[in-house]
Amino acid sequence: MNLQGKHLIAPHDLTMAETDGLFALAEKIIAAPEDYADVCRGKLLATLFYEPSTRTRLSFEAAMLRLGGRVIGFSEPQSSSAAKGESLADTIRSIACYADIAVMRHPKEGAAFVAAQNSEIPLINAGDGGHFHPTQTLTDLLTIRHEKRRLDGLTVGLCGDLKFGRTVHSLICAFARYTGVKFVLISPDELRVPEYVCAEMHDYSEVRDLADALPELDVLYMTRVQRERFFNEEDYIRLKDSYILDAAKLKNAKSDLMILHPLPRVNEIATDVDDDPRAFYFRQMKFGMYVRMALLAALLGKA
Ligand code: CP
Repeated sequence: MNLQGKHLIAPHDLTMAETDGLFALAEKIIAAPEDYADVCRGKLLATLFYEPSTRTRLSFEAAMLRLGGRVIGFSEPQSSSAAKGESLADTIRSIACYADIAVMRHPKEGAAFVAAQNSEIPLINAGDGGHFHPTQTLTDLLTIRHEKRRLDGLTVGLCGDLKFGRTVHSLICAFARYTGVKFVLISPDELRVPEYVCAEMHDYSEVRDLADALPELDVLYMTRVQRERFFNEEDYIRLKDSYILDAAKLKNAKSDLMILHPLPRVNEIATDVDDDPRAFYFRQMKFGMYVRMALLAALLGKA
């Protein structure tokens, strides 16, 4: 695996071999984090967050600090020169003068691609609008691979906002490359998976009812209906509680089902699910930090 100097904008930017190489490296870091405590010493990560984040920004920062590197950045675009009208291209040219690698979240689809075109340092997409979120996908797949010891042959339910959900789009594009993966897409009509993402899947069905779909699933990926992606508040209010997973619904699910969620959750998973051994959404976050450690080390040529 040689990823030195590359950008990560979309899930297709990594081959399957490179993705599996990152998972193997992340597993080594999990097993012996002390062996990696200095591999990025002297390197600087810039975090450019034009949209709110808890997990992605802080897990990238934690990842770089745990690799011995350091971090600069902003989490509020109004405190950067974007507030004075600076273009994204000029901002990323400036950041490249100071940092060795950058991670960026932006509300507009395609913003990460534009930034990468103007970046002399590796740029990682931490979410561009309702498009892609490739490092959440690395997190999700590593969590499943670690627990189930495979990614092939699984039946995966994706539930909620499948239209604007960038974590869903990225996950489908990457997961569909594994053998025998079957997708069950559970959403209201208005929030179905876009055509360009459907085109990536070999085997999928679309259903409206979560309870009907549950018994056949190996993985259930719940998502939030995202208020910030709606143009119309009335539509958001009508759709926001379309699906609520609770302990009663899980009675008909497999005993080894994995319930994932990129978080944050609002109402879509009741808190009575949190103590169920099938609930992986809190454990999932830690895998995000480890796989981001692997990614930073690889893009900086330190792994
Ligand atoms: N999963 C995820 O992207 O979470 P944050 O919005 O908190 O970064």
